[in-house]
Amino acid sequence: MDIILLGPPGAGKGTQAQRLQQKRGMIQLSTGDMLREAVAKGTPVGLKAKAVMAAGELVSDAIVSALIGERLDSASGTGAIFDGFPRTGHQAEALEILLAERHRKLDYVIELVVDEEALVERIVGRFTCEKCGAPYHDTLNPPKVEGTCDVCGSHNFKRRPDDNEQTVRTRMAEYRAKTAPILPYYEEKGLVRRVDGMASVEEVAAAIDAILDS
Ligand code: AP5
Ligand code: ZN
Repeated sequence: MDIILLGPPGAGKGTQAQRLQQKRGMIQLSTGDMLREAVAKGTPVGLKAKAVMAAGELVSDAIVSALIGERLDSASGTGAIFDGFPRTGHQAEALEILLAERHRKLDYVIELVVDEEALVERIVGRFTCEKCGAPYHDTLNPPKVEGTCDVCGSHNFKRRPDDNEQTVRTRMAEYRAKTAPILPYYEEKGLVRRVDGMASVEEVAAAIDAILDS
């Protein structure tokens, strides 16, 4: 099963993708994570992406589509969760071709419907486990034992450089201008399912499970 999680920055795409990966063995394909890895390693893609990401703007369609193409076969068994991709009409077309070449097709596009103002708080309080990438929030979703990752037990956490209010506002504007307009394309195909992204992490997870099990 191949699905897209769609929603603005902080909607909970990464949180739900991680959970689906753990629970269902699906593979999370996050272009944001791939780009951050490229930046950390200083690869040619990373060098191009670094300033664009720091500004909260979108990296080129060609770069992110190539990243997805390289990883797609790793998610051929139980399926892929596209997290943060596609983000433009061109990326949606690229994904369709990549899947068709592998005789695969999308099963669902799950839109996390959220209140953008509340998302600023979510993002500014966000941190992740440095070792396993599990996502947390200072007040909304802290580790069960303070300072210890629930998933892997690590004590080391990190925060993203683009998680400040000004950059978040640019990321949201990019979402409204370039990403939200791809929804009608998937609506026409009957693939869109809406989930209330303002509910708790567990409630959102249950709503997604109900869709995938239907
Ligand atoms: P990317 O890494 O994709 O970031 P994003 O879309 O801005 O999304 P986020 O990771 O901020 O949010 P999320 O929805 O995953 O929320 P999360 O689960 O963490 O992209 C970063 C940059 O890379 C872009 O700006 C762009 O430059 C570039 N890029 C990436 N992909 C690209 C592409 N395809 N094309 C071009 N450029 C691309 O949750 C947020 C917080 O809220 C967490 O603290 C979490 O614990 C908490 N939380 C989650 N769910 C809930 C809940 N239900 N209730 C309470 N708290 C919750
Ligand atoms: Zn961890």
